[in-house]
Amino acid sequence: MKNYDAFPEINDRELREAMEFCVRQIIHVLPEFTEKFQHAHSVNNFYEPKDNLDWTNGFWTGEIWLAYEYVRDNPDAVAMLRIGTPQSAKDALQKAAEVQIDSFLHRIQNKITVDHHDMGFLYSPSCVAGYKLIGSEKGREAAILAADQLISRFQEKGEFIQAWGPMGHPDNYRLIIDCLVNLPLLYWASEETGEKKYRIVAEKHIHTAVKNVIREDYSTWHTFFFNPETGEPSHGATCQGYRDGSAWARGQSWGVYGLATAYRYTQREEYIDLFKKVTEYFMDHLPSDLVPFWDLEFSDGDDQPRDSSSALIAVCGMLEMAKYLSEEDAAYYISLAKKLLKAIYDHCAVKDMEESNGLVLHATYSNHSPYNTCNHYGVDECNIWGDYFYMEALTRLMKDWKQYW
Ligand code: GLY
Repeated sequence: MKNYDAFPEINDRELREAMEFCVRQIIHVLPEFTEKFQHAHSVNNFYEPKDNLDWTNGFWTGEIWLAYEYVRDNPDAVAMLRIGTPQSAKDALQKAAEVQIDSFLHRIQNKITVDHHDMGFLYSPSCVAGYKLIGSEKGREAAILAADQLISRFQEKGEFIQAWGPMGHPDNYRLIIDCLVNLPLLYWASEETGEKKYRIVAEKHIHTAVKNVIREDYSTWHTFFFNPETGEPSHGATCQGYRDGSAWARGQSWGVYGLATAYRYTQREEYIDLFKKVTEYFMDHLPSDLVPFWDLEFSDGDDQPRDSSSALIAVCGMLEMAKYLSEEDAAYYISLAKKLLKAIYDHCAVKDMEESNGLVLHATYSNHSPYNTCNHYGVDECNIWGDYFYMEALTRLMKDWKQYW
């Protein structure tokens, strides 16, 4: 790992100010985004309202829950924010999140655009959170149905959860690194129902994913194909990265968070070392201001967009992993996380509602290159998971957070 001693950490005052801006922004836009959701990405830094049809909707509800927690836990600070009384603000946030839980329950009961693996992203920060925070039974029911949907995508041949597309089709017989962060939903479902089937699938998938997506130099593949006849590993490929063989910044950061949760649930010692190496690759391929380019192939001097959301996912992954490390290692990763968060706070955080109705600028969703297969949208914009993980990172650093994942 390079030496990061010279970089400043985000301090307690900045954490509080950042969180309070998030809470004010969310309360401000809540009437527009209760029945509708913030879209996956902004357009000219402003989100438009959309129905609950994307893989990303859970992050918006998750932001509402994180704001709810802050308001609930800090009534004195909230009283100064001119967003109503702490009680009225808390009630408004809870009510909006509950409206959205109804929408998530309807979506999974009617199987509306749920033919993919992103059940964790959809149902953990929305419905599991609602169950954990206010005992929402609808949230519990929806999240268990979502876990059933997720395990229905398990492929015995190859032992992985198929990410996208019709089940078994050779063009889609693959897993993607992002899926590691979908799996806490399965562990939660096993704990909640007492049924092992969810955990068994999660563990098999983790094992297959970790074995195949991490390359020799600890960069990662975005996606990895298997032979549908034999289940044998076939080859890695990118979808959203610059090219096959480069390290898509967000893929690498899903790896950082994914390895932390993989260790949390499996306690396999080898995942600690892999976490350290994958994190080191991410950190050591950042430019001098620590705001990641969208692909780690690029660095200082390149005229390419950034992806602030990848930094925020990595920050949360480091803070999660710190809980399971020795005191010395934990202090190291917490400090690194604070440095990365400081860079995002300084260079990307929205600080004026006139500038954006989101929270974090300079994220990239899907940047088409001559060598990748993705469409082009959400480039140098806010995106909804960047905003969510910003709030999760702030929350993790301000209290002992009981996670939604
Ligand atoms: N999980 C999809 C993405 O990170 O864009």
